[in-house]
Amino acid sequence: MKADKILYNLEEVFSPKDLGRPLRGKEMNEADILKNAYIAIKDGKILQIGQGDAYKSLQDEHTKMVDLKGCVATPGLIDAHTHLVYGGSRENEFAMKLNGMKYLDILAAGGGILSTLKATKEASFETLYDKTRNLVEQFMIHGVTAVEAKSGYGIELDTEVKELEVIKKINEDLKVELVPTFMAAHVIAEKYKDDPDKYVDIVIDMMPKIKEKGLAEFCDVFCEKDVFTAEQSKRILEEARKNGFKLRIHSDEIADIGGTKVASELKVRSAEHLMVISDESIKALAENNVIGNLLPGTTFSLMEDTYAPARKMLENGMAITLCTDSNPGSCPTANLQFIMQLGCFALKLTPIEVFNAVTINAAYSIDRAKTMGSFEEGKAANISVFEAKNLDYLLYFFATNLCKKVYIDGELVVD
Ligand code: NIG
Ligand code: FE
Repeated sequence: MKADKILYNLEEVFSPKDLGRPLRGKEMNEADILKNAYIAIKDGKILQIGQGDAYKSLQDEHTKMVDLKGCVATPGLIDAHTHLVYGGSRENEFAMKLNGMKYLDILAAGGGILSTLKATKEASFETLYDKTRNLVEQFMIHGVTAVEAKSGYGIELDTEVKELEVIKKINEDLKVELVPTFMAAHVIAEKYKDDPDKYVDIVIDMMPKIKEKGLAEFCDVFCEKDVFTAEQSKRILEEARKNGFKLRIHSDEIADIGGTKVASELKVRSAEHLMVISDESIKALAENNVIGNLLPGTTFSLMEDTYAPARKMLENGMAITLCTDSNPGSCPTANLQFIMQLGCFALKLTPIEVFNAVTINAAYSIDRAKTMGSFEEGKAANISVFEAKNLDYLLYFFATNLCKKVYIDGELVVD
């Protein structure tokens, strides 16, 4: 007989609060941590979570019991910032970086994102699909159930569309949820180097075409020294809003050129990176309810020592998430657990702040909080199970994949 309900018994369950908006400031250090806990699901949705023997009242002859004692569970982890779809790889830059060459200097010399553009243009749809699918499966093996995924290694319409179609097809083929972002404004195409505003016009021209095909939900811009100015970024995002995109911006990653001010003015969903953010911008993001998507793996991988000032952000009432930034140049990884550990080791966040960042707050950042990010009754039964006796251990024992099982909509997708 088919089980009607499934009951998972666990050592410890992390249960974030869903206040109907992202958790801000001190709220990020609050959650229910249930020891000797259970999660009950029905029809792929959360039915109830609780502690001790209370699950017995839910038990009947159609209930399946799953013993996960010795394990901890969290809502399926969510990565709210990645650049997943690209041709080739960039380990050739490693020696240059180890010798002290800077990310923007490699880009200015025609390497960096520019070299990935070429490899992505040359790659067939099938090649890109297989490569990206493998990467997404790696994310899932590490406990991730939803991922924001940007285009931006195409920059010409055809290749942008190819990247976004890869995202769409993987979304259809795997249980994981991919949330697509159009990011043709990732770098200025070389042929427009002397007339960057012309390229801005081209990006704007692509927007209705991408929307018509239903290929992207968000639009993002790399607002950075030698890439897009604050003024150009603002223009792109305003046009994107008119075209029905939700907005994000890469700002204050390497230089503060005003991108985070644009984020506050336009009240975008999230501002990303924020490694060199000013005190004034922190206050403005908090006041305008812009989520800070922090990417400590990028600081680590670029071998910089300026991490985003996460503690100061929380003291000022900001909402933050932690994301991989997975990409071939500034953060080649598929391990969100390691990024969460950097949240503690480098950003000095508490474990509760870290778990809130990659569950409920990340769900708000990708606009999926109605269906995921916490264990409220009726949300999707997305559950990540880790081989750890408690949540602290999962962050303390670093750089090792402790994920044991992943369920999406109640279906076991990693075992
Ligand atoms: O978020 N900043 C822009 N984009 C990526 C890097 C992309 C690349 O180097 O390929 C980032 O760091
Ligand atoms: Fe990025």
